[in-house]
Amino acid sequence: MGLPRLAQLRAAGEKITMLTAYDATFAAVADAAGVECLLVGDSLGMVCQGLPSTVGVTLDAMAYHTECVSRGLHRVQGTAWLIADLPFGCYHESKEQALRSAARLMQAGAHMVKLEGGGWTAPVVEFLVQRGIPVCAHLGLTPQTVHALGGYRVQGRDEEAAATLRRHAHELQDAGAAMLVLEMVPARLSAELTAELPHCHTIGIGAGQGTAGQVLVMHDMLGINLGKNPKFVHNFMADAGSVRGAIEAYVQAVKQGHFPDDALHAW
Ligand code: KIV
Repeated sequence: MGLPRLAQLRAAGEKITMLTAYDATFAAVADAAGVECLLVGDSLGMVCQGLPSTVGVTLDAMAYHTECVSRGLHRVQGTAWLIADLPFGCYHESKEQALRSAARLMQAGAHMVKLEGGGWTAPVVEFLVQRGIPVCAHLGLTPQTVHALGGYRVQGRDEEAAATLRRHAHELQDAGAAMLVLEMVPARLSAELTAELPHCHTIGIGAGQGTAGQVLVMHDMLGINLGKNPKFVHNFMADAGSVRGAIEAYVQAVKQGHFPDDALHAW
């Protein structure tokens, strides 16, 4: 899997599937189940480390889990496109700091890095892309800034917020971001952005079915969650006999347009 193949899928109208993965075994199982992209998300802070948010996740932790996932894929000759999150504080200081952090994750096995936010991030994205590092951006609910946002809530709801999000998305495409995660964004806005951004594949999470692809946190879609699942999650394990079966059901549901169901999972 590579960026040209992902572009082909999109051009053919086929949805791109993505799940988070944090270790070798789950990565190999997800790859075998047909997931095209694996994200070593900094959600690992909450899922694996028991942290209250993603803010405390370090670059060392991201590099460690990226290596684990990459090894899992190599062991089974997996083909998934591997994206790793740049954690909070590791790309905020300067473009050079972002490059050093991104290089660390690429050397751990990532094919692409993801960073959160718009506006100030566009020059950082451009700097990384010019140096051969594919970048996925992330707008809407950006968990690293949850304290500034005032909680895990839908973003881009009013006209002004939607206009800012739209401007940021266009700037990120212009800067060379090849993917854009849209998290907790109204379905109509994310569908419009998808149509407006032909060179940047939109991947939704709680953003309706109009995006080029979908992502979920693996543990959420397997129903391994200590709290209440957010509205946009579906438990694919409930009707599956195995983890692999649940992931295959997710892939099929996304490809066939059955997940997300905007009546149930969108705003
Ligand atoms: O860290 C993560 O898991 C993410 C996804 C929720 C998109 O950023």
